[in-house]
Amino acid sequence: MTQAVLDLARPVAAPTGDAPMVLDIRAADAFYGKAQVLFGVSVSVRRGQVVSLIGANGAGKSTTLNLVMGRLRPATGSVELDGRSIAGLSTESIIAAGVACVPQRRRIFSTLTVLENLEVGAYVRRKDRAGVARTLEEVCALFPVLAKKAHMMGGVLSGGEQQMLAIGRGLMSNPSLLLLDEPSMGISPKLTTEMFADIRRIAETGRTVLIVEQNAYAALGISDHGYVLENGAVALEGPAARLMHDDYVRQTYLGA
Ligand SMILES: Nc1ncnc2c1ncn2[C@@H]1O[C@H](COP(=O)(O)OP(=O)(O)OP(=O)(O)O)[C@@H](O)[C@H]1O
Ligand SMILES: [Mg+2]
Repeated sequence: MTQAVLDLARPVAAPTGDAPMVLDIRAADAFYGKAQVLFGVSVSVRRGQVVSLIGANGAGKSTTLNLVMGRLRPATGSVELDGRSIAGLSTESIIAAGVACVPQRRRIFSTLTVLENLEVGAYVRRKDRAGVARTLEEVCALFPVLAKKAHMMGGVLSGGEQQMLAIGRGLMSNPSLLLLDEPSMGISPKLTTEMFADIRRIAETGRTVLIVEQNAYAALGISDHGYVLENGAVALEGPAARLMHDDYVRQTYLGA
C-alpha cells in the first residue's frame, strides 16, 4: 500500500488519448433470459488508460464486465479486444487473450495462504516460471503487505488486505487488461483512497484498467475517462476530470 494520498481534485492527464484501442464495446444489448439489462452500451478503453464505469445498484455495471469475460453474449452489438471480436468466445480463451477480472465479492481462498492464492492466479501460465516470479515481485512491490503476510491464511487478512490479494491474484496471470468490479466494496474510506492510488500505479506499469464502481469520487479521481451507466444505458461519458465537475454527476453520485 502506498502512503501517497491522491489529490482527488487534480485532473489526471490522459496521455494515452490516441493509444491503440484495447477494449471496444459497441452498441451492445444484453439480456438475462427475456429481461433486457443493457441497452446499446458503448464503452472503449485505450492502452494504458484507467477508465471507470460508475452507476448505482443494478445499473448494469457487472453485466458489462460479464460481456467482456464471455459470461454473457451481446444480443446485438459487438465486443472487441485488440481489434478482434471476442463475443461468443469462452471465458478461458478470453483469459488466455490477456484479460483478468477481479470479481465483485473478491472470492479469495480463505484456507489457502496468501502465496497460494497468488499462485492460483498464475495457473494459466504456470509453465512460465521466470515470468511468474517477475509478476510476483511486481505484486509484492505494489502491495508489500502481501509479501509480509505471504504464509498467512487468506481468511485472516483484513477486508482491505483481501482486496489487495484479489487484485494481486488478478495480476498474476499478467493481463494486459485488468477489470475490477467494485474494488472499494466493504473498505474504509481511507483505505479506499490508498487502494485507488495503487490501482493508478498498475496502469503506470503499462497495463490497462477498467473499473466498475459505485464510489464515483474515488474511481473518477484516478481515471482518465469515465462512463455513467443508468438503467442499463450510458447516460454520460467524458474525461474523468470533467465528469467530476459535472453538476448532474456531482448531485447524483458525489453527494454534492
Ligand atoms: N444472473 C442474473 N439473472 C437475471 N437478472 C440479473 C442477473 N444478474 C443481474 N441481473 C439484473 O440485471 C440488472 C443489472 O445488474 P448488474 O449486476 O449488472 O448491476 P450492477 O450495476 O453491477 O449493480 P451492483 O452495484 O448491485 O453490483 C439488475 O436489474 C439485476 O437485478
Ligand atoms: Mg455489480
